[in-house]
Amino acid sequence: MSTLSEIICREAAERGVLPFARFMELALYCPVHGYYETEKDNPGRHGDFYTSVGVGELFGQFLAFQFAEWLQAEVQSPNPLAREQASKVQIVEAGAHDGRLAKDILAWLQLKRPKLFDQIEYWVIEPSPRRQKWQKETLKNFAPRVRWFASFQSLLQERTCHSSPATRHPPLHGIIFSNELLDAMPVHRLGWDAKSKKWFEWGVTVSGEKFVWARIQPLAFSLQPSALESVLPDGYTIETCPAAQNWWREAANVLGRGRLLTIDYGFTADELFSPGRRHGTLRAYFRHHARDDLLANVGEQDLTAHVNFSAIQKAGEACGLTTESFSTQAQFLTRILEKTLREKTFGDWSSAQTRQFQTLTHPEHLGRAFRVLVQSR
Ligand SMILES: C[S@@+](CC[C@H](N)C(=O)[O-])C[C@H]1O[C@@H](n2cnc3c(N)ncnc32)[C@H](O)[C@@H]1O
Repeated sequence: MSTLSEIICREAAERGVLPFARFMELALYCPVHGYYETEKDNPGRHGDFYTSVGVGELFGQFLAFQFAEWLQAEVQSPNPLAREQASKVQIVEAGAHDGRLAKDILAWLQLKRPKLFDQIEYWVIEPSPRRQKWQKETLKNFAPRVRWFASFQSLLQERTCHSSPATRHPPLHGIIFSNELLDAMPVHRLGWDAKSKKWFEWGVTVSGEKFVWARIQPLAFSLQPSALESVLPDGYTIETCPAAQNWWREAANVLGRGRLLTIDYGFTADELFSPGRRHGTLRAYFRHHARDDLLANVGEQDLTAHVNFSAIQKAGEACGLTTESFSTQAQFLTRILEKTLREKTFGDWSSAQTRQFQTLTHPEHLGRAFRVLVQSR
């Protein structure tokens, strides 16, 4: 048994049955042993899955172009207060993993928008010291400009402790973004018991040397009842991710002015809660193949679930953000492409750039399943 399995077994022995969300948290993020602590080369061609970042530099360059357009509008705002606040603007990334996307974005800004680049601070929200180390290595050429915070809480503490209560306001002015972050957050897995017409939670316990599923009933949290329940088949499965909604709320609350954006695969609540999708969206990935056994290969396979964008959108709006757009990755990047062509920003396209754009936007690759939510304050 691996050290990580032993850690999970010990906790399961103490608690009886672990909610799947706790199992997933340990499997992915247990310090030193979790999947994302050890798998530096994931995402990537040699890993278990790849993301838009691994397609090539174009993804980061397009984001950089869009970020520059948004930030430039702030820096040049006719409103003197907004202009003064914008003398320094921030780009904040979470889920930066090995720092590749940050590098693509900063390199493009430095080359193509040097004046704005001087006003930008790049902050990374990264709870893991090990991943911070990977990121610092990748971003060493941008060292003075990049700062790390373990959480939004620590960012808040540091930024507000020197200001007087009268002048305190959310400290961030710019853009907070993530790519494939929310799908990697621990989800609760719920099942429908058609006989008793009740939801239960799937938990994890140990049998011999294996992790096995066990029901937890009653539910520890409330679910909004849906008219669809009367037609759901027995065992119908969904996931819910309070961690993602909490994260979004925390991000919204540090954003004084600017945009909060996430790119990920996911659905609206209606698309997710469809009677036809009876097994939920939770998947394990190992060497580019989806695996059925979510409890096997602990720490060696990725675990991920589709994002419920309606829940995320609602969480942001409840914190006072306005939803600017919700689109597919193909629509989002094509709008950027049109602007870059008008401005001739990228000059003549190489065949590599064309290939990258096609992969990022083709409906059967990353174009349709990935969605982009942009909210602003
Ligand atoms: C699927 S990977 C995506 C990596 C990268 N953004 C990309 O697109 O290639 C998810 C990353 O999010 C990180 N992560 C998960 N929860 C986090 C949190 N609360 N704060 C910051 N990063 C987190 C994971 O450690 C992992 O590096």
